[in-house]
Amino acid sequence: MIRLYTGDITKMEVDAIVNAANSSLLGGGGVDGAIHRAAGPELLQACRKLHGCETGDAKITEGYKLPAKYVIHTVGPVWRGGNYGEEMLLKSCYAKSLVLAEQYGCRSIAFPAISTGVYGYPKEQAAGAAIEAIKEYLRRREGNCPEEIFLVCFDKATEAIYQKLL
Ligand code: AR6
Repeated sequence: MIRLYTGDITKMEVDAIVNAANSSLLGGGGVDGAIHRAAGPELLQACRKLHGCETGDAKITEGYKLPAKYVIHTVGPVWRGGNYGEEMLLKSCYAKSLVLAEQYGCRSIAFPAISTGVYGYPKEQAAGAAIEAIKEYLRRREGNCPEEIFLVCFDKATEAIYQKLL
């Protein structure tokens, strides 16, 4: 089931929250900075051991001081106009994160609006790709997949877009 949540992802009591990271996995601004601040320095130590992540891929750590048990770090595409595989890469972030969540037995997972901040992906197109990717995943999967998939709206514009599309 896809649900909307308005607020700060670092406060969510779910099995896994997804981080919109960069390929170094060594922290940054936006939701990445907020997650590292809330999780504490152990998260950065764990991330150092992952040796980065490709765009469109995802890696998992524990959640440390977060209420969430795990953090799934994924790297969204930088928006370069739409002709550089951005949609495929963004969908891949959602799909790979869901597969990892499933492998780690997560029943609930929360996604920020990946790539729609610093990386400049247009919010409406990103929301459409996110929903399509999740629905494609749910069509293919049975049984073990997360029951609750939250799309986190940190701003009113994102909330309105998701409400319209869902
Ligand atoms: N909870 C939920 N959503 C949030 C929060 C929060 N606490 N804070 C911001 N958002 P961004 P990107 C929303 O820029 O575009 C970092 O420096 C925000 O409103 O965090 O994928 C990384 O290290 C927006 O809708 O991620 C990378 O270098 C969404 O999260 C780069 O930014 C994503 O915005 C990644 O850029």
